[in-house]
Amino acid sequence: MEKRKQEEVLNSLKDSSLMKKKFKVKKATGKLGVLIPGISGAVSTTFIAGILAKKKNIGELYGSLSEMGTIRLGKRTNKNSPLIKDIISLANIRDIEFFGWDVYGDNCYQSCLKAGVLNNNQIEIIKDELSQISPKKAVFNKKFATNLKGKNIKKEKNYFKLAEELIDEIKTFKKEKKISRLVMVWCGSTEIFLKQSNVHKSISSFEKGLKNNSKDISPSMIYAYAAIKCGAAYANGAPNLSADIPALIELSKKNKVPICGKDFKTGQTLMKTILAPGIKNRLLGLNGWFSTNILGNRDGEVLDNPKNFKTKEESKLSVLDHIFQPDIYPELYGDFYHKVRINYYPPRGDEKEAWDNIDIFGWLGYPMQIKVNFLCRDSILAAPIVLDLVIFMDLAQRAGMHGIQEWMSFYFKSPMHGDGLYPEHDLFIQSMKLKNTLRILAGEKTIDHSGLDYYYE
Ligand SMILES: NC(=O)c1ccc[n+]([C@@H]2O[C@H](COP(=O)([O-])OP(=O)(O)OC[C@H]3O[C@@H](n4cnc5c(N)ncnc54)[C@H](O)[C@@H]3O)[C@@H](O)[C@H]2O)c1
Repeated sequence: MEKRKQEEVLNSLKDSSLMKKKFKVKKATGKLGVLIPGISGAVSTTFIAGILAKKKNIGELYGSLSEMGTIRLGKRTNKNSPLIKDIISLANIRDIEFFGWDVYGDNCYQSCLKAGVLNNNQIEIIKDELSQISPKKAVFNKKFATNLKGKNIKKEKNYFKLAEELIDEIKTFKKEKKISRLVMVWCGSTEIFLKQSNVHKSISSFEKGLKNNSKDISPSMIYAYAAIKCGAAYANGAPNLSADIPALIELSKKNKVPICGKDFKTGQTLMKTILAPGIKNRLLGLNGWFSTNILGNRDGEVLDNPKNFKTKEESKLSVLDHIFQPDIYPELYGDFYHKVRINYYPPRGDEKEAWDNIDIFGWLGYPMQIKVNFLCRDSILAAPIVLDLVIFMDLAQRAGMHGIQEWMSFYFKSPMHGDGLYPEHDLFIQSMKLKNTLRILAGEKTIDHSGLDYYYE
């Protein structure tokens, strides 16, 4: 490379690693309250049991970046890769207090047994701690999840008053348990498919809609509204809109609250966003991608209703279009067939099985096939995501970040993103985005991985 060109490359590298904005991160002192709508579910109870097990040293939190992830700082030659939690102040899991709501009134010990994810011997060791956590009555509307039969539901009918009830409960919990910071993670069922409408457009139209019980306001939106009003960071683990509407995005900016979503990226979609970037980066063409699942837990039962499945389907389908960019590579990806199926099959419980058949083509158009058979455990893959969201959203809050947290895309099937941006689905870009944001928050230089500085400095 001629000298002038080399200098240009180096200068652009320096520019990109400049931290345009500095964040001051407050220390994580005091207790962190974790608010969970859907606290009796499989994901919630597996998450809570994991934290309690770790506190008793009877289990490791595998899969969690905030617990065991490292981050490289500086040049490769420095060999400096400390734990993330050693370079930046993160909440300690020992300071977490749980609080939640569910349509089913069982305490967390009973729900954990019913969820059938963890083995009973392990649950018995943390029985006392789990039994102390009981759900509050839920804000629920059967129209949004018809297959649920629980009766632990608030009596009030008006949405605005229901939001006020949630706010009161959150404030009381905060005061009684001496909580200093709050994060809410929606672990409730997937609600039926909703499109954005006028009532979602601004805070004033939304609050008017709450007062008039608008048909376009779902329970998860009422929880998200209550959380943001209380200054709690909000993360949405399901694909339903929830906080992904202009009204709540506006409120989150006004109240300086970070929000993110949607739909935990576990099982099949996790595999998809690992494989698809590889196929795309090698410019192999795609004729079709057929994905099917069998699943037998309560989530599977809710998704057995076509209206609820539609919400999940939209979320799962969006991934490939964004990774393959058919508009830029029409000859490779302009016409691929993508099908996703979820079949409710009770004998499997939480132990989902997913199959993918991928039809690709290469040099001169010759066809090839890839088969993936993933025998996973849904909640075992989701629990570390819940933990990381709790820890990193609390960090974002302490750093003064608010509105959509795109750096959390790593954890979601349908990442929330700013106006005019497309969602980033490629797991490797998402991981870089996450780690570079952590570097910035820690006051460290970002890394662009070009590696040119090893050769031209
Ligand atoms: N497990 C995974 O890998 C995974 C991946 C992506 C997304 N998700 C989503 O995460 C959510 C939780 O999954 P799960 O497997 O724990 O499901 P689950 O059915 O076991 O738990 C959901 C819980 O939410 C409760 N609920 C529903 N509506 C509620 C409301 N309005 N208020 C309070 N509680 C309410 C239900 O009673 C149930 O106990 C689902 O939406 C699911 O689609 C899960």
